Parts: sequence; C-alpha cells; structure tokens
Amino acid sequence: MAFSIIPIIFLIFSVLVPSFIASSLAVLDPEFVVQEVHRKVNASRRKLGFLSCNTGNPIDDCWRCDPNWEEHRQKLADCAIGFGKYAIGGRDGDVYVVTNSRDDDPVNPRPGTLRYAVIQDEPLWIIFARDMVIQLKEELIMNSFKTIDGRGARVHIAGGPCITVQYVTNIIIHGINIHDCTQGGNAMVRDSPHHYGWRTISDGDGVSIFGSSHVWVDHCSLSNCTDGLIDAIEGSTAITISNNFMTRHDKVMLLGHNDSYVQDKNMQVTIAFNHFGEGLVQRIPRCRHGYFHVVNNDYTRWKMYAIGGSAAPTINSQGNRFLAPNNIFSKEVTKHEYADESEWKNWNWRSEGDLMLNGAYFTPSGAGASSSYAKASSLSARPSSLVSSITSGAGALVCRKCSIY
Ligand SMILES: *[C@@H]1O[C@H](CO)[C@@H](O)[C@H](O)[C@H]1NC(C)=O
Ligand SMILES: *[C@@H]1O[C@H](CO)[C@@H](O)[C@H](O)[C@H]1NC(C)=O
Ligand SMILES: *[C@@H]1O[C@H](CO)[C@@H](O)[C@H](O)[C@H]1NC(C)=O
Repeated sequence: MAFSIIPIIFLIFSVLVPSFIASSLAVLDPEFVVQEVHRKVNASRRKLGFLSCNTGNPIDDCWRCDPNWEEHRQKLADCAIGFGKYAIGGRDGDVYVVTNSRDDDPVNPRPGTLRYAVIQDEPLWIIFARDMVIQLKEELIMNSFKTIDGRGARVHIAGGPCITVQYVTNIIIHGINIHDCTQGGNAMVRDSPHHYGWRTISDGDGVSIFGSSHVWVDHCSLSNCTDGLIDAIEGSTAITISNNFMTRHDKVMLLGHNDSYVQDKNMQVTIAFNHFGEGLVQRIPRCRHGYFHVVNNDYTRWKMYAIGGSAAPTINSQGNRFLAPNNIFSKEVTKHEYADESEWKNWNWRSEGDLMLNGAYFTPSGAGASSSYAKASSLSARPSSLVSSITSGAGALVCRKCSIY
C-alpha cells in the first residue's frame, strides 16, 4: 500500500496534525515517522470518509486505493478472499488486449478476439481496448490460468452462449456484464490451440463451472440467462463468488451436480459481498453435499426462497441481510429440498449474525458440529449493519478510473 501513503501524508499532515509536522518532523527517526503516519492514517480513516480508502470491503480496498491500479492490474489476483482465494488467473503471464468484439469463430478464433485469448495454453491477463458488447456464437471455453478483467471498460458478454469453465484451474472473471445467455451446441468449439471438439447443447448458464477449481468471479453483473447465472458442478471446488450484482433470473446458482454425485462432497464455495436484487426467484444458492459459506450478502429480493439445498450440504450463513418479500408464504430464507424433516434435521445449516427484515426467517438444522462449520468458514464475517456499505459497489463497476480517490 506504499503507493497510497504519499498523498495521505500530505493530507493528514496538513489537515489533521499541523502542529505535529511543525514541531517534531525534522528530528524524528524516519522509520518512526512512517509508523506515526500509519497510526494516524489508521486512526483517522473512520472519521474522514472522503479521504479514506477503508471502504470496509477488503477486496476493493486491496486495489481501488491504488490510483495507479491500471499499471499493476495483475495485483488484483492477490486480493481474493474465501475458498477461491488462491485463484491466480493470469497473474504470472502477459497482458492480452482484446480489440475485436466481432468475428467470433468458435473453431479458428481470430487474434484480437476474446475467444482467441481464453483458449491459449500460457497464462494471460485479458483486458479490453474499449467498451464492447461480445455476442458469442458458441460457449466460450476457457483454458487454465486466465483472467478476464473488464475494469475501466464496459464489457458485455450477452445475447449468445456465455462462459464455460470446464476441467481447468485458476480462473478469475472480474468486471464483466454477463446477461441474456442462451444455449449453444451441436457444434465444434475450440478449447486450446491444439484441440477442438463436438459440444452438445449447453445449459445456457452465465458462467458454467464444471470439474474445475480455484475460480473467482468478482464484480460481475449477471441477469436473465437460460439456465443458471453461475452453476458449479461435477467435482468443482475452491470457488469464490463475490461483489456480484444479480437480477432478473429464476434459478440463480446451483452448487452441486445431483443428489447421487458424491464427488461434490469436497466442494467448498464462498458467496460473499454480493447484492441479490430485483427479479430473482430461488436458488441463491441451491447447494448439494459440500461446504458453503454465505457471508455479508445483501438479499433484497427473492420470490420463493433464498438459500436451499439437498443431500446434506453444510451451510454457514453469517452477517447477511435478508429482506423477505411481502408474500406471506415466502418469508423463509431457507428451503430443505427433497427430504423429510427426519432426514434434513441432521443437515448442518446455521445462521449467525444475519439481519432478518420484513419477517424473514432462517430454519436452522443439524447438531452444529464445529468441525463441520470449520470446513464452511473462509473469512471472518463483518456485522450485518455494514452490508449495505460493503455491497454498495456490487456488480460491474461503471468507472474509468475506479480508484477511490
Ligand atoms: C495500520 O493499518 C494497517 C492495515 O489496516 C496495519 O497493517 C498497520 O500495522 C497499522 N499501522 C499502525 C501503526 O497501526
Ligand atoms: C431474457 O432473455 C430472453 C431471451 O433469452 C428474452 O426473450 C427476454 O426478453 C429477456 N427478459 C428480460 C426481462 O430481459
Ligand atoms: C447424476 O449425475 C451422474 C453424472 O452425470 C449421472 O450418471 C447420474 O445418472 C445422475 N443421477 C441422477 C439421480 O440424476
């Protein structure tokens, strides 16, 4: 954070502690001065919102405090939290600039297109030359160690098949508008420079995560897709879904393939700092088998229920804000699916520090073995009173500069 200190030094010294600077700066040990500045900056942050970079959102604070973040875009990879925090994406590779939003060729992608970038074997940090709307002809099948970074441009992937993360690792998707995604398929699609293959009809998800690990989806706006907005199935794990804004969609997130697919028992997913807004119906998320940490999200709309699941998932809900709909039959946050109470009463689902509004209620279950919740804990929850500020920037940011200053 050294880069952010210099302007603060001037501001703090001139605004807050003129006497300190006048009387003692000249004689102090430089190391002490630095510490003193840190201490005062820390102490003043809470009071001086307009100078502060401490938004309370630890992911955003990690990069938006740097006025020159664009020169160090790949540092974003070190800002992740939760179970997906080791996803490095294309951190250790070159930056690749997408210049062509058209001409999508699923088998022989053209240089300059997003598809050309995502199929490469080497790590790449993919950015965009300008605002663009990309309507894909088939699923965009990503290769490992890629970041799609929409910061500073308005990028939409919309109106066609969307993103597929299948049998790969280390994927970061940040700052993209993903909407109106449709099914693809019965077509050839390339997934690496040396392989393409036949794809049957796809589900039509916004982001489909299949047999993959170390995946982080941050600050995306997702809405109105054919199947899920983000689905993670078939042995996927180590996933963080954070700072997203989701709207206008029925089955929002499916985490876990089916009740008999026990390979999903190891799945660990963090759902943090998201805003779940207008027009959502259910599955926010719907979980199976694994361990799910749902923390500091703002639920402002759901029609049927918010968090559900089957096949004995462990669900750790902490510090969320749940605003129930007015319909008297939809006040319950939770839905234990496809099981009698005699069975689901043993599933470990708990609510800690959640704010329940408009009659919302969470039906906990299970004996609450701490070892089980330890596997469903990925960061320390902030108080629910901070949720509205933590999530105020959820979704793809509409900013050119984007830094807090
Ligand atoms: C100021 O806060 C930062 C992180 O918020 C911490 O690392 C640092 O030790 C603090 N410095 C002092 C002097 O309190
Ligand atoms: C959602 O997408 C479908 C096409 O998949 C479109 O017909 C419909 O108008 C969209 N709905 C909204 C509310 O945007
Ligand atoms: C679960 O998924 C597996 C793998 O796709 C499939 O073979 C199996 O039939 C499915 N089971 C059920 C009950 O749907």
